[in-house]
Amino acid sequence: MGEFRKNRWLNRFAIFSAVATWFLIGLGGLVTSHEAGMAVPDWPTTYGYNMFLFPPSQWIGGILYEHSHRLLASFVGLLTTILAIWLWLTEDRRWLRWLGVAAFLAVVLQGILGGLRVKLMIDQLGIFHAALAHVFLVLLCFIALVTSRAWEPVRFTGWSVPGATVSLIWIATGLIFTQLVLGASMRHQHAGLAVPDFPLAYGQLWPSTDEVFLEKINRERIDPLEPNPIRASHIHLHMTHRLGALTALSVVVALAWRTRRSVMGTAPVRRYAMGLLVLMVIQAGFGAWTVWSNKAADVATVHVLLGATGLVAASLTGVLSARSGVLARIGSSRAPFVRNVGVKINGENLAANTL
Ligand code: HEM
Ligand code: HEM
Repeated sequence: MGEFRKNRWLNRFAIFSAVATWFLIGLGGLVTSHEAGMAVPDWPTTYGYNMFLFPPSQWIGGILYEHSHRLLASFVGLLTTILAIWLWLTEDRRWLRWLGVAAFLAVVLQGILGGLRVKLMIDQLGIFHAALAHVFLVLLCFIALVTSRAWEPVRFTGWSVPGATVSLIWIATGLIFTQLVLGASMRHQHAGLAVPDFPLAYGQLWPSTDEVFLEKINRERIDPLEPNPIRASHIHLHMTHRLGALTALSVVVALAWRTRRSVMGTAPVRRYAMGLLVLMVIQAGFGAWTVWSNKAADVATVHVLLGATGLVAASLTGVLSARSGVLARIGSSRAPFVRNVGVKINGENLAANTL
């Protein structure tokens, strides 16, 4: 029996866990955007209460975001624990069992990072918390993918992605992740509006950062959300994020173009590449809108969520493409014995399911 048919409910559970995590990232984004990280100053208690018994009548203002973020995080922690145990008990692939353990450790670390962010009041911890959140989401989505029907070797019949295209997908994934880290640094260093106009920057292609200019913009800026003065490093960070967006977009355009013209033009990777391109263009639009809207919380949060979605889309496309290449190589080296990898050939179990 195929892995998927054996473990159909496990796969559904993995998908559910990933979707819950996506919403959790959105809720976390709202916590940051509403500057509500310190609305609940204690942890793991909530204003001295056991967090699960904190009275709903007191879920007001920033507390609503921070407390519900903690509750949803606990729920995701529970889901991940069940997923890890389920994988450990039922999964034949050893590496996948350990991946479940890795997801469990990641969610524990993530919870601790969130708690330390509150206890130690270090803004910078929010950057690690944000980056790990995205990595964790990718991990859960990967588990959902490899337990799904889409992972079965037979699904890859007729498509094999050239190595150079796979490399391009990985480059795009790396660039999107870099954008997430730069974006999170910007958010947690309050540099989101260090450059308040777009597409130009203070009316120029690249703004000046000398003392006189900084003095002038800080004098003219009245923004209760951003009480700290703008420093040159804030402007550099912000501009690097914009340049990064341009680079990531160019690579995704190149990828879409390449797969469009490739002899494997009918392969699903072409659709994925086009989807990624559309997603990234919308993402850049939301980035611009974040600036134009003076960092409206909902707009910035959609920008965070689309960033997470883009990372998942790019990395899973990379994984599927790499797998198609591996399966094609195995298939061609074993031909004419093999039509469908994953069966016994010459007494040796090729077991594509273990890949
Ligand atoms: C599975 C577990 C968790 C995930 C996936 C997660 C995810 C996130 C994300 C994505 C953000 C937004 C970061 C950004 O926009 O840059 C965030 C913010 C935050 N999270 Fe979590 N979180 C988790 C658990 C926790 C826990 C247990 C706490 C406990 C207190 C916590 C406290 C916070 C705080 C205080 C912020 C705001 C940080 C700031 O404004 O600097 N998180 N979280
Ligand atoms: C297309 C590629 C882009 C990607 C993948 C991307 C990704 C992200 C992510 C994930 C965050 C939040 C990180 C976190 O805290 O978790 C962020 C923040 C931000 N991004 Fe982008 N971004 C892109 C393009 C842009 C563009 C073109 C702009 C236009 C200026 C922009 C402006 C911003 C701003 C201002 C923030 C900080 C928002 C705040 O402080 O609340 N982004 N970006």
